Amino acid sequence: MDKFVINGGKALSGTVRISGAKNAAVAILPAVLLADSPCIVENLPDISDVATLINALRRLGATVDVINKSTVKIDPRPANSFVVDKEMAEGMRASCYFLGALLGRCNHARVAPPGGCNFGERPIDQHIMGFRALGAQVKDSPDLVEAHADELRGCSVRLKMVSVGATINIMLAAVKAHGFTVINNAACEPHIVDLAIFLNSMGANITGAGTSTIKISGVETLHGTTYRIIPDQIEAGTYMVAAAATNGNVLIDNVTPRHLKSIIDTLVDAGADVSVFDESVRVKMTERPRCCNVLALPHPKFPTDMQPQITTLLSVATGVSTVTDGVWDDRFRYVEQLAKMGANVQVNGKTAIITGVDRLGPAKVKAVDLRAGAAMIIAGLMANGTTEVENTIYIDRGYENVAEKLQMLGADIKRVPVTE
Ligand code: EPU
Repeated sequence: MDKFVINGGKALSGTVRISGAKNAAVAILPAVLLADSPCIVENLPDISDVATLINALRRLGATVDVINKSTVKIDPRPANSFVVDKEMAEGMRASCYFLGALLGRCNHARVAPPGGCNFGERPIDQHIMGFRALGAQVKDSPDLVEAHADELRGCSVRLKMVSVGATINIMLAAVKAHGFTVINNAACEPHIVDLAIFLNSMGANITGAGTSTIKISGVETLHGTTYRIIPDQIEAGTYMVAAAATNGNVLIDNVTPRHLKSIIDTLVDAGADVSVFDESVRVKMTERPRCCNVLALPHPKFPTDMQPQITTLLSVATGVSTVTDGVWDDRFRYVEQLAKMGANVQVNGKTAIITGVDRLGPAKVKAVDLRAGAAMIIAGLMANGTTEVENTIYIDRGYENVAEKLQMLGADIKRVPVTE
């Protein structure tokens, strides 16, 4: 186990290059199992969630050749198992995408329940509803989900709530089903669109991704492809907030600016100066942040995966801000850690009321989950003095070389092993 040691209080400046999108990568890697020839996946982020999935693909029997740090060639043909056991599934949410991918590949999937960050209940009832509508029989017990179909048939489903995971899983199971599938109330996140483009490049027939109605005309077979994953919206947003929070001036490069609109709007509300270019954005902040009210909702609204980071920025704003998480029931567990650094945040259900303080002070804090960990790093960069952030294991799940990227921006941050 490592910790990050940060000597904060320095403005970030320079250029940071954003890696491939975690939440697209973790859908696309299982989707490779649907192909009947090898796929090359480029721009994979070098993060532990990707390593976990590559391991799982190998254990299913697929051949994975690492071509370079961000490119793999996967031959799904030798895969001969439909079982993802507890060891492979726990620790990451995306293991549940093997349900849809294996069901689509061989009409049979047995997958241990997914792990992932703890934000309260994380049911998969809508995934299962979709599989059943496609004609699968699903046994859902606390330690195993098993889905089986003699034949998957196209269907029309309406998700009870907008769910990224259910949208992806139903797409994976439906893409080779007989007939036509419609997913109503589908999620519109950039990674949903990326998965659809990836599957279409393999010969799928998917339209409407990026809107709330996705239409899939089932095809008999899917072939291999070479595909480059989109830049990570949330990694980009995290560096944008870090730039603003340190009164910095940073060019965030290799991004898709239209994916960042709600984050840009919120930062501008908070007083940042944001310039948008073709594939980069510059964030400059010269004053104390202004208070504002933020509501996290499914795309294209402000992303819940940026909620802890923006709350941290607003902890030093002038006046009182509110941040509401309209997606997760319990995503404010990190506030206790932020309070150790002097933040004044009261949580009332799904809303945090943040009374800005003049500055944060250094402390020993923990990452309680992935994005909360990113927020603690930002808090450490803001505070004068030495902050320690424990539980780097969560942060490593989703941020490639975070210490090195921040060092390039002038931050004093290092990874240090924790000795018991
Ligand atoms: N929900 C249900 N039933 C379901 C599915 C979802 O009740 O069958 C509820 C959830 O409890 C939640 C809401 O619907 O309240 C939305 O959940 P969603 O299914 O969209 O979340 P997810 O697929 O489990 C993905 C991302 C999360 C991100 C959410 C929301 C991946 C691997 N994970 O999770 O990302 O917070 O969408 O955008 O794509 C992260 O990257 O840090 C992260 C947690």
